[in-house]
Amino acid sequence: MVIKNVNLETVCGITSVLPDNDKPEIAFAGKSNVGKSSLINALMNRKSYARISATPGKTQTINFYNINDEMYLVDLPGYGYAKVSEKEKEQWGRLVERYLHASARLKAVFLLIDIRHEPSANDKMMYRWIVEQGYKPIIIATKLDKLKRSQIQKHVKMVREGLELENDSKIIPFSSVTKQGRDEIWEFVETELGE
Ligand code: GTP
Ligand code: MG
Repeated sequence: MVIKNVNLETVCGITSVLPDNDKPEIAFAGKSNVGKSSLINALMNRKSYARISATPGKTQTINFYNINDEMYLVDLPGYGYAKVSEKEKEQWGRLVERYLHASARLKAVFLLIDIRHEPSANDKMMYRWIVEQGYKPIIIATKLDKLKRSQIQKHVKMVREGLELENDSKIIPFSSVTKQGRDEIWEFVETELGE
């Protein structure tokens, strides 16, 4: 995809009406701090258009990035942030569920997992949730640059087994530092969009 223009078009909080977009959407889910906003910046070739922070829980809204007036990249709020109250967690869940359930133009959902760690109970729940809404999650194993080359295969296997992925499910290792994996993600998105 040649990025001509990007625009953070809609920001939805827990009480917002979700947009009825007429262009396809690709969503990114994952625990807080896993690198969703960093990935979206990398895909858009922007350094810091999507806000990134060392503090987890930065993105608490659903952010719709309009790409070239052709499609949307959708940054979902991260889960599993310990300092958030139970009530906020519940509201988060409802917002994300509402979105996954209601979006008519959602084409694919990527689930980001930190390649260094075994998937958590929340990761497994999110995976099942996406499946239950009728999508086949594509796994992006983030922060690839934090591993030695020799460790990568072992960790990809750990993520695959932790989520109990079927053998044909895709895992794309990615680093927002080196941008490794970026082209593969775009290729996948373009295939989904039928280009
Ligand atoms: P929330 O908005 O809290 O849900 O987090 P997020 O998933 O959007 O994560 P974000 O992109 O804000 O990144 C969190 C932290 O991880 C930041 O300090 C990033 O710089 C760092 N980070 C993200 N991706 C990578 C990566 O591929 N490699 C390394 N080394 N650091 C990364
Ligand atoms: Mg974020």
